[in-house]
Amino acid sequence: SQVYLNGAFMAPQEAHISPMDRGFLFADGIYEVIPAYNGVLFRFDEHLIRLERSLAEIAIHNPHSREEWRHLCETLIERNGGGNLSVYLQISRGATEKRDHAFPNPPVAPTVFMMTGAIAIPAADSPDTASGSKAITLDDIRWARCDIKSISLLPNSLLRQQAVEAGASEAILLRDGFVTEGSASNVFVVIADTIITPPKSHAILGGITRDLVVELCRSHHIPIEEREIPENQLRQADEIWVTSSTKEIVPIIQLNNAPVGDGKPGQVWKKVARHYVNFKR
Ligand code: PDD
Repeated sequence: SQVYLNGAFMAPQEAHISPMDRGFLFADGIYEVIPAYNGVLFRFDEHLIRLERSLAEIAIHNPHSREEWRHLCETLIERNGGGNLSVYLQISRGATEKRDHAFPNPPVAPTVFMMTGAIAIPAADSPDTASGSKAITLDDIRWARCDIKSISLLPNSLLRQQAVEAGASEAILLRDGFVTEGSASNVFVVIADTIITPPKSHAILGGITRDLVVELCRSHHIPIEEREIPENQLRQADEIWVTSSTKEIVPIIQLNNAPVGDGKPGQVWKKVARHYVNFKR
């Protein structure tokens, strides 16, 4: 396999970054994960708009134009054999001479790293045979700017690990009694045939998959609301789904060891999953 680092493609074991990189010292950077199906990038512009916004929010100069990013992503996909892959793209503020919380002045060149990952066959691809996943609820211990796709993922990592240790695949996070999102996903519930997902705010990452699900529901006249979900509504929901670029739409069939609905992927999920798959093709 090949990765990209600061202007060159190379084997992963050839890629070296200074320990003085602010990504390493301060988690001072942002990232994106963009899926590609049959070697073709999916929702590329949407991911790039979010990347540009994340960079602007933390004042890192964007080293490439959108077309340059596209070319880099496509070259990386080609060099990794195409097919279904995710492109991981990270930009940190770069390597400095001394450890100082404040930004280097004058600025240094940002560090750009890209690699590909495998994407498992998503549950949405086979709505009739999908088995669903388990989730637990946990307190959202993250910072107040979760809308920035920061590489500072220690809380997300701790939360996901707690879920895994509880035999679940995702942690659904609660802040002040309301659902925010998953440790690496957005959350949807279905209550009385209405789909509900929390509105975009500083408390959640505005997921590209989330936005597409909202868009698809609106265009197919499937009732959907962007509003806050109190904990008791989450627990009583007929269906719960989590969404992300690498897993698409995953039905949650058990929450805190209690069945969600009848404990099987729901009818509304099946309908939306079909629309998602059709859109993808
Ligand atoms: N994570 N919320 C959080 C906290 C996330 O980390 C992610 C994605 C999402 C879903 O966003 P999208 O639909 O744009 O992938 C929501 C990526 C996949 C990751 O960290 O690997």
